[in-house]
Amino acid sequence: MTAPLIDPFARAITYLRVSVTDRCDFRCVYCMSENMQFLPKKELLTLEELDRMCTTFIGMGVRKLRITGGEPLVRRDIMTFFQGMTRHLDSGALDELTLTTNGSQLARFAEPLYAAGVRRVNISLDTLDEEKFARVTRWGRLAQVLKGVDAALAAGLKVKINAVALKDFNEDELLRLTQWCAEREMGLTWIEVMPMGDLGNEDRVGQYWSLNDLRSQLAQHYTLTELDERTGGPARYVRLEETGQKIGFITPLTHNFCESCNRVRLTCTGELYMCLGQEDMADLRAPLRNNPKDVAPLQEAIRKAIGLKPKGHDFDYSRQKADGQVTRHMSHTGG
Ligand code: 5AD
Ligand code: SF4
Repeated sequence: MTAPLIDPFARAITYLRVSVTDRCDFRCVYCMSENMQFLPKKELLTLEELDRMCTTFIGMGVRKLRITGGEPLVRRDIMTFFQGMTRHLDSGALDELTLTTNGSQLARFAEPLYAAGVRRVNISLDTLDEEKFARVTRWGRLAQVLKGVDAALAAGLKVKINAVALKDFNEDELLRLTQWCAEREMGLTWIEVMPMGDLGNEDRVGQYWSLNDLRSQLAQHYTLTELDERTGGPARYVRLEETGQKIGFITPLTHNFCESCNRVRLTCTGELYMCLGQEDMADLRAPLRNNPKDVAPLQEAIRKAIGLKPKGHDFDYSRQKADGQVTRHMSHTGG
């Protein structure tokens, strides 16, 4: 183990989010356009390269890995990668291996994921209405995802549902989604929609719904107790006293959470984004690929990149246009 990764603002980097593919079997309107151009295969890190990359970060103090995409479970042989990471859980170098998924492949993968050491998953689900689900995901089928949720619970995984808050879309499902999650002992986290993807186009499901408003609607039906737990990320949590359930709010646009940021994001092509809201990135694929036998150049590139981690992001919705908008899609950096 080398010296831990500390950024210029004295934040220890212990959390790595890794996008393992830019592909997805859905086309959510706020995330992708209808006709996505995906990256050529040779641009992607191979599964072996992903393993070496993550292993190097773990050797530098990363204690939590979250696998994202695109949809991570559509990457061919991705279980091999998860099974590879099991050794870091076993050795105690890694505290947690998790993933964010749309749930479409969980009926197949929930059990092997548990066997590989995964204990929690985040499943994205914005609506329990079949027709609305088809509309927001364009290609998704609700029944398949619900089967995936059941499979995850049956396998013993703790499940958290992530829902993007969309005005005039799932506003009317606030209570139904809350109850549905409560019945299954699942947490529910609401995400304020970010200025990415195809919002406000022909689909008309991309409207901003303020989480302050969502929260006060919730407070009309439940007793909310503020939890002061901080995950180092943009989420804030409350407990609903009536159900005991944890409800999260991710408000990247209205709150500044940057001071506690402990994370960086790796794309499927090996670019390291030091901040979700900034264009600044470092290429780690070249130092990785060019030095198959020597990890030092990669470590040096990682250390240099962390040294450039900015203090905070520039998203700002309070101005008329979505300022600080980043042009890349969420599937590229990983959610
Ligand atoms: N705004 C907010 N959340 C988004 N996600 C994808 N695109 C956006 C966006 N523009 C979410 C997905 C999923 C997570 C990976 O990121 O719905 O919950
Ligand atoms: Fe796929 Fe998730 Fe993007 Fe939807 S939000 S298109 S499920 S990556």
